[in-house]
Amino acid sequence: MITNLKGLLEAAKNGKYAVGAFNVYNYETIKAVIEAVKETRRPAIIAFGEKYLENMALKEVVNLVRTMSIGLDSDIAIHLDHTKNVDVIKKAIDAGFTSVMFDGSALSFEENMAQTKEVVDYAHKFNVSVEAELGCIQLGDHSNEDEGNEIYTDPLQARTFVLETGVDCLAVSIGTVHGMYKGVPKISVERLKEINQAIQIPFVLHGGSGTPLSTIQACIQEGITKINVNTEVSMTVVAEFSKMIAKNPQAHFSNLSTKATEVAKQTVIKYMDMFSPIQ
Ligand code: 13P
Repeated sequence: MITNLKGLLEAAKNGKYAVGAFNVYNYETIKAVIEAVKETRRPAIIAFGEKYLENMALKEVVNLVRTMSIGLDSDIAIHLDHTKNVDVIKKAIDAGFTSVMFDGSALSFEENMAQTKEVVDYAHKFNVSVEAELGCIQLGDHSNEDEGNEIYTDPLQARTFVLETGVDCLAVSIGTVHGMYKGVPKISVERLKEINQAIQIPFVLHGGSGTPLSTIQACIQEGITKINVNTEVSMTVVAEFSKMIAKNPQAHFSNLSTKATEVAKQTVIKYMDMFSPIQ
């Protein structure tokens, strides 16, 4: 069932679990997430960032997800990940995305707040949920995201930001990185706790790949309800391709495609299990 992000995250907050947001950019990644939902009967967020507009058009993503999820009992949100361009956000809403992320992390606090509010005012007219980011997340290894200077989210700013803009969920910077960690992850659950004490709203953890299970569990206890995963799914597929091509340099693309879906699905399920343990 295609659903709105807000309801999905409120249920996660009450149930003390997080919903995985998995980046997609082609048939194989979308199919992998849908198959994982089918197999686990867990909800998921299909996340498509504006940087993948070279791979797929907004309407193609919506149509493919809608077609592939016919008959599914579990909830799926169609989410626009990291987008800096407000026009792209409006186009995604018109195309049928059920939630959007405005990424104003490179802007000043005031400018981020003003543009986020503009997005919220537009999106809420269409019952579309909005995620924003405050602070900035660093870049690790093998990521496809842009370079970022790590700035931890300030709890008091987070409170003002949420109250002024009316966002539905907030991405926080507490030490996770986009991509794989360069060394031992240094994640401040303490900072998250302070933010959670300052303002009650579903929080989003970017940079899920490689984050240790114990940290994930501690973060869920402090209000994280959505965790984004991209890099590790891509890495597992590419590693499998390398093996297949090493074995058979003339490997057929159709076989690579089938394998990609299967391998991506296994990685998605691994993270779903970490985010939402079976009680
Ligand atoms: P990873 O690539 O580290 O999993 O992070 C994904 C992400 O945060 C996308 O918004």
